Amino acid sequence: MNSAPSIPEEIIKLFDKSSIALSLASAGSDKPLIAANKKFCELTGYDIEEIVGKNCRFLQGNYDNTDAKKNIHQFLNGNAGLSIRQPLINVKADGTPFINLLYMSRLCDGIGNTQFILASQFDISNTHTENLNHYGVVLGNTLKKITPLAHQAGIILEGSITALANSTAMIAQAKLTLAELQSANHIF
Ligand SMILES: Cc1cc2nc3c(=O)[nH]c(=O)nc-3n(C[C@H](O)[C@H](O)[C@H](O)COP(=O)(O)O)c2cc1C
Repeated sequence: MNSAPSIPEEIIKLFDKSSIALSLASAGSDKPLIAANKKFCELTGYDIEEIVGKNCRFLQGNYDNTDAKKNIHQFLNGNAGLSIRQPLINVKADGTPFINLLYMSRLCDGIGNTQFILASQFDISNTHTENLNHYGVVLGNTLKKITPLAHQAGIILEGSITALANSTAMIAQAKLTLAELQSANHIF
């Protein structure tokens, strides 16, 4: 019986040094988080001890994100390409809502079975186009660094990141979504 590959220590070290939010979940059962870096904790306001072992849906609070979740399900079920970039409404630990641009790609073993899901989170509701474009470049470089580290452990990182053609429009839409939530709910 083949045992599942484990995540190389070098990838966790890379997480710790990264300037962008990164997280990793096991592909099994309910996809619990097995790692998240300092930037993820800064972005969400949660301590690492509070989140390891949990599915990341806790970040959605009471927002239903129906369409976004449909896309995520399709990706996680292997029916929507090698990676996904999906905006969805999230809530920080202090209750502040934000629009999280979630990136995900799969880490597979040598026979193509998904073992882990790699994710990165970015707050597009409180940013400018240049910041989002810069984030895209850093994420692309991060994926390039993870690929050979994973390979040494027999793990294939699927997917890559391409420049967002409409980053300005995406940020404008995120701000609009938050403003609509604010006027509809008077919650923040
Ligand atoms: C590694 C990883 C990171 C994720 N990060 C987030 C996140 O930051 N915010 C979020 O709302 N959902 C995130 N998700 C998605 C949710 O965990 C979940 O897959 C999504 O809500 C759809 O599933 P559900 O309908 O069972 O909740 C992440 C998933 C994975 C596997």
